[in-house]
Amino acid sequence: MTADRPRAVGGRDPRHPSTDLESNVTAQASDRLGVGIVGSGFIADFHTRAFRGVRDADVTAVCGRTESSVRGVCDLARELRVGDPTPYADIREMVRDPAVDAVWITTPNHVRLETVRAVAEEVSSGRASLRGIAVEKPLGRTVAEAEEVMRLVQDAGLLHGYLENQVFAPGVTRAHDLVWSRGAGAAGSPYLARCAEEHSGPHKAWFWQGEKQGGGVLNDMMCHSVEAGRFLLTPPGVPSSEWLTPVSVDATIACLKWSRPAYADELMRRYGPEVDYRGRPSEDYARATIVFRNGDGDEVVAEGTTSWSYVGAGLRLSFELLGPEYAMQVNSLDTEAKVFLSREIAGKQGEDLVEKQNAEGGLMPILPDEAGAYGYTEEDRHMVTRFLEGRSPDEGLDDGLQVTRLLMAAYLSAQEGRRIDLTDAAQTAKLSGFVPEVAQGTWRPGH
Ligand SMILES: NC(=O)c1ccc[n+]([C@@H]2O[C@H](COP(=O)([O-])OP(=O)(O)OC[C@H]3O[C@@H](n4cnc5c(N)ncnc54)[C@H](O)[C@@H]3O)[C@@H](O)[C@H]2O)c1
Repeated sequence: MTADRPRAVGGRDPRHPSTDLESNVTAQASDRLGVGIVGSGFIADFHTRAFRGVRDADVTAVCGRTESSVRGVCDLARELRVGDPTPYADIREMVRDPAVDAVWITTPNHVRLETVRAVAEEVSSGRASLRGIAVEKPLGRTVAEAEEVMRLVQDAGLLHGYLENQVFAPGVTRAHDLVWSRGAGAAGSPYLARCAEEHSGPHKAWFWQGEKQGGGVLNDMMCHSVEAGRFLLTPPGVPSSEWLTPVSVDATIACLKWSRPAYADELMRRYGPEVDYRGRPSEDYARATIVFRNGDGDEVVAEGTTSWSYVGAGLRLSFELLGPEYAMQVNSLDTEAKVFLSREIAGKQGEDLVEKQNAEGGLMPILPDEAGAYGYTEEDRHMVTRFLEGRSPDEGLDDGLQVTRLLMAAYLSAQEGRRIDLTDAAQTAKLSGFVPEVAQGTWRPGH
């Protein structure tokens, strides 16, 4: 039987849409939130689409490096009627705009720190006034970077949210809610979470470069799987860091596909000489096993598997949570809608069926609302509600920092071929200054 657990806030999961009535009522009584999006690429586009499902916010500004992409996101916002944003090239100018009440940071990992610093300095100096900041995953390329992002935001006195969409995905939150209320309530807490994110490789050169991105697929996608694992193993409404104490991490990384000569050449052809997987590869496969002690005092395990070497219909997110008398599972490619296109149709390449689509023929899954299914809509709604209420979101930068610590422990484990003991203070202290070989450009697969 389960021992006393930390109590859920109001006894329910604040991340679950249908149980967030109380906060919605308060938010309706408050005003609207003007959101400035920093970055105008792939994920800025997704957030803009997600804001269709957020009733009390407008996208009021977009800032980016390329004029055409900034205009593209502004046009999309107008077309979807989620705002009439002002385009900006300078982030400091954007946050001084009185129409901007909160910022969503969606810049690449290598400019994350300078972007957050610019926002924090404008707020700390009194030149800008903001209610909150929401930062895309991963929080930093290293523990030191993630700690600095956290410090800057705290010193500026801002409410903060960590943009980990998967813990807001309706399939995940609903199944999580049900197995905890029906399964764990009767039979005891769950003991094994398995989370995976897999696709055939990212869409921009910087993701592939260890120094810029902070690593390979482990840093890019295991951050999702680690946080999803922490979320699933924790009772609804309880902070994961209160319920789960990390015990150890054991991980493996490999470059299975993209360091093969023909594929390394293909990457160089696509992105130019700076993406050199013959000389400086990053891992395209990673798996990690994280052992925690939970609030009942039991040992529980989160397994993560991520890959850029998966070739299926498109992006595949999968989640499982297993307990003594129950299990749940979610697979984003098990869609209710599918299309079949015969060999007589030579379709042109696109991503109109599913993210990171790999084929235009045969039996293909369709996700009609990807922003909703992957969790961006509920994530943005939650952040907006909390910022309007003046309350901290359930998913904060402290969660992002915790994830970065686990990711760096995973790199250390893979690099040194040993299990990392997270109960040993001397070991965990070392993680602050640790930069993975992949991020230094010195990693050689198979050595
Ligand atoms: N939650 C998710 O599922 C998810 C998915 C994709 C990306 N992301 C994260 O979002 C971030 C961005 O990824 P992306 O795929 O959108 O990348 P991207 O390269 O498609 O877009 C990044 C944008 O940032 C702009 N930019 C670069 N430097 C800037 C600066 N100094 N100031 C303002 N704008 C700047 C670029 O012009 C570009 O428009 C990354 O941290 C990534 O890990 C999260």
